[in-house]
Amino acid sequence: MTIGKFIVFEGIDGSGKSTHAALLKERLEKLGFTVYVTAEPSEGEAGKLLRRCLTGKSDLPEEAIAALFAADRVDHIKNSSFGILSHLEKGEIVLCDRYYFSSFAYNGSYSPMDWVIELNAPARRLLRPDLTIFLDIPPESFLSRIQNRSEKERYEKIEILKKVRENYFAAFRALPDEKVAVVSNARPLPEAAEEVFRAVLPLIESPNRA
Ligand code: TMP
Repeated sequence: MTIGKFIVFEGIDGSGKSTHAALLKERLEKLGFTVYVTAEPSEGEAGKLLRRCLTGKSDLPEEAIAALFAADRVDHIKNSSFGILSHLEKGEIVLCDRYYFSSFAYNGSYSPMDWVIELNAPARRLLRPDLTIFLDIPPESFLSRIQNRSEKERYEKIEILKKVRENYFAAFRALPDEKVAVVSNARPLPEAAEEVFRAVLPLIESPNRA
């Protein structure tokens, strides 16, 4: 059976994950690969509930949200219609916008990170990324996108994103067996896109998943 590659994009809000996923997809398709782009929260039942929480339409405690993200992730891996494994089994390259490091960084801001890592043990057992690409931007650069908010809201949002960014790096240190490439996206897009592609090249030059 041919097994594809699983590549995850991570980063704080506004770091350019979906832009880079689209650029990488285009480049890989030109080389003849079949590429499937997906994101978390997933389109499944748990994912739908999470979107309601994210838009303030459902009010669950932070611990329940962290557990729901972990549950959604298992569904996203195994689901027979949109599951990541079903695409990898067809030999496709799967690009995923957010995966378990998002839980460690975001949900780990409200609950102990060790506990969030434990919650995600099933996902880590089922499917580890061949590569996680962390797109790094200074949290302050998010400011331009939230200009219509009050000074207090803007300050709070920046403080949260600073904490999330620190958590990402803490999680990378805590899990040294994960393959992570940190790519600065605080520079011209073509330069960052080239570095993303260079990080992915060794994966597509070797025929099978590790
Ligand atoms: P996005 O679709 O703009 O990336 O937003 C998803 C939001 O959900 C973002 O604020 C990060 C958050 N999130 C978590 O808190 N935990 C997770 O495990 C994931 C995947 C996302």
